[in-house]
Amino acid sequence: MTIELKDNQLLKPFSYINGSWHSSEAQLAVTNPANGKVIANVANAGVIETELAVRSAKKALKHWASQSAAQRSVILKKWHQLMLDHQDDLAQILTLEQGKPLAEAKGEILYGAAFIEWFAEEAKRAYGDTIPSPSTDKRIVVLKQPVGVVGAITPWNFPNAMITRKAGAALAAGCTFVVRPATQTPLSALAVAELAERAGIPAGVFNVVVGSDSRGMGKVLTQHPDIAKFTFTGSTNVGKALINQCSSTVKKVSMELGGNAPFIVFDDADIDAAVAGAVASKYRNAGQTCICTNRILVQKEVAETFTSKFVEAVSKLNVGDGISPDTDIGPLINSDAVSDVETLVNDSVSVGAKVVLGGERAPDSNNFYLPTVLTNVTNDMPIARNEIFGPVSPIITFDSEDEAIEMANDTEYGLAAYFYSRDIGRIWRVGESLEYGMVGINDSAISNVSAPFGGVKQSGFGREGSKYGLDEYMEIKYLCMGGL
Ligand code: SIN
Repeated sequence: MTIELKDNQLLKPFSYINGSWHSSEAQLAVTNPANGKVIANVANAGVIETELAVRSAKKALKHWASQSAAQRSVILKKWHQLMLDHQDDLAQILTLEQGKPLAEAKGEILYGAAFIEWFAEEAKRAYGDTIPSPSTDKRIVVLKQPVGVVGAITPWNFPNAMITRKAGAALAAGCTFVVRPATQTPLSALAVAELAERAGIPAGVFNVVVGSDSRGMGKVLTQHPDIAKFTFTGSTNVGKALINQCSSTVKKVSMELGGNAPFIVFDDADIDAAVAGAVASKYRNAGQTCICTNRILVQKEVAETFTSKFVEAVSKLNVGDGISPDTDIGPLINSDAVSDVETLVNDSVSVGAKVVLGGERAPDSNNFYLPTVLTNVTNDMPIARNEIFGPVSPIITFDSEDEAIEMANDTEYGLAAYFYSRDIGRIWRVGESLEYGMVGINDSAISNVSAPFGGVKQSGFGREGSKYGLDEYMEIKYLCMGGL
């Protein structure tokens, strides 16, 4: 290990199964995307360890589910507090393995911890129902009960919050949990497990299996008969395959998949606010979030003003190692990710897009791509059809409100959309017409624990966070009380 923390016990190079740390001879190197250096070697678990984790979660289920929501809440709140106490260390681990600027990593730790607290409270309000019965000798009572063992696969772009957003809800509901985090960022997940143990979460309730056998481990998590619910955050293509696998045992499934977020600037918008919103939403995490702005659609009358102010703002962003305090944009996760962005930009330039800023890798670097703005883009170019997952803003112009809505909806994705306008009629019309699960109106910071996060169309189904997030981990049971 080459990381120095205030609390070095947070660095765990082993899977966490049934309350114990599992080593193995096979090792998986975790590298810092900013410089390619190995920061840790983690035990490379596989199918056997994943099956063991599922068995442990099954064994732990009865006791954990039988606790009251208030009892579980006490333990979850300790876990939340420990994450806050260790915010600096958790953020350092996150930046070193994922690359995002340290300030963003600290923000992610607060965001991630907040899901644990939110659901610790929310589970106390998992109300059932009594329903007026159609006959006088019966009563209808509805209960909510935990689904059972949950299998989860989580991504590298939010190595902390994408675990806590699922695990917080699952554990609060009374489920037990087995997660396979992305192999690029396992240390954040394992640090969260160390804190789970310190908080007193019983053995088997929260398990983390780290391993490179994505296919084999994925099959266990989607096909094991003891898993009742499967949840995934990642690409639409992988999500489709996992949904298929879940069908063999008819699991309850939730999917948070890819996006192609339009950011629409109407002619009546506050242009300075729109510029600030677009920069924040596009360049967060170097463009590597599912809800990042993917296409900027600007009404012709304001296109020149918006573009010049936007380019000026983007040109001020500093690219560098996330650990340095001046960095606004860190590296992409690996060189394949940079090649994918390069291909999308070059293919779009070859059919008429114009580079007005950036448009290439940062000099002398493997994983850094310069903040880029493209104009002359049309909605059918590769850069506008595909999820970019990099710091590139394609600007497309439009004439009318109807045209903007049509372009915005012309995609198989439906996760997040944004628009800026000061006309109240337009705000309602456009807000209701956009085929997206989340719409930011004169605001691009839409993620928070109280709001339902999730998409429609091929961006997935199910909601995370908010009062709705708990339902993903609960079943409704109807008791029919007769013979009265
Ligand atoms: C994601 O990219 O899936 C998560 C983004 C967020 O929670 O804001």
